[in-house]
Amino acid sequence: MKSIATPQYSIHFNSACYTEFNTYLQNSNFSKIFILVDSNTHNYCLPYFLSQVATTQELEIIEIEAGEINKTIDTCAGVWSTLSDGDADRKSLMVNLGGGVVTDLGGFVASTFKRGIAFINVPTSLLAMVDASVGGKTGVDLGVLKNQIGVINFSEMVLIDTNFLSTLPQNEMRSGLAEMLKHGLIQDEVYWNKMSDLSQSSLADLDNLIYESVIIKKNVVIQDPHEDGLRKTLNFGHTLGHAIESYFLSSEEKTSLLHGEAVAIGMILACYISNKLTGFPTEKLKSIRETLSKTYGKVEFDDQDYLQIIELLKFDKKNTHGNINFVLLEDIGIPKIDCKVSNALILESFNYYMT
Ligand code: GLY
Repeated sequence: MKSIATPQYSIHFNSACYTEFNTYLQNSNFSKIFILVDSNTHNYCLPYFLSQVATTQELEIIEIEAGEINKTIDTCAGVWSTLSDGDADRKSLMVNLGGGVVTDLGGFVASTFKRGIAFINVPTSLLAMVDASVGGKTGVDLGVLKNQIGVINFSEMVLIDTNFLSTLPQNEMRSGLAEMLKHGLIQDEVYWNKMSDLSQSSLADLDNLIYESVIIKKNVVIQDPHEDGLRKTLNFGHTLGHAIESYFLSSEEKTSLLHGEAVAIGMILACYISNKLTGFPTEKLKSIRETLSKTYGKVEFDDQDYLQIIELLKFDKKNTHGNINFVLLEDIGIPKIDCKVSNALILESFNYYMT
């Protein structure tokens, strides 16, 4: 697969990742290289990654606990201290080998350590390949509130090796698929149609679909890197999706949802609201609900849940001047940003989801 160039960095795929990375290391003069992993990627991905890297430089491994619950400023403080104790300086490089938690948190740690050191993302989950590792968003959660702290800062390169997906659990695959389905809904009906029926797809097809998703995301980010307008469309399904994810993370009784599982619900709710407010066609709403329900099943909510989820919307990062700004669709591929939605309609959308 051909590498993808952006104004700030390049994205390389599969075997090209290692050729490009090794050439980059040869041509750079890093004082030290740190590889950030979590407990899973340490076991499943690091040995293979190291076997592909050709350098005589010492590589220092930094490990964090896996899971969204650890995407915190406390974890960052631990990594900053390890960098400092390991004599990292401004000419050090950090390689983030992991899923979205590792690439988001690692990017943030690198962007702020000594006011910024170079970093490279090596996403190992589907979600990180098609979304988190691409586009320069870095950061951590604040309590259960998602990605409240962070900066936009671009990695030196992104290395997408889909071989890592062979050890990824099924629920993590589904989580990443949600972001790919979102790319279809906001940008490309043909892509949505391909994504909504994967029953006949092979692994090679999946590689091509990942590639298309990365192109869609890259094209949006190039036009609006700092999310002043168009990039907000990438948050389709995320306004309620993030609130649902935060609510489930904070609840003692509920089992946490993965990011994409919450976003899938958020997308059904946003399509329903779009049908009421922006003329999104009813038959497409029905077929989207069917497609998403087939993959993600149905999560149970009650009235108390709805109200608490709506309460969490006030923390959404797209809010301005006290307004909650939804991304809706006029049709598949025609998103509309900054839409105001009443609480009554949000409740109605939950009722639609539950029927
Ligand atoms: N994940 C949405 C974005 O990168 O803008």
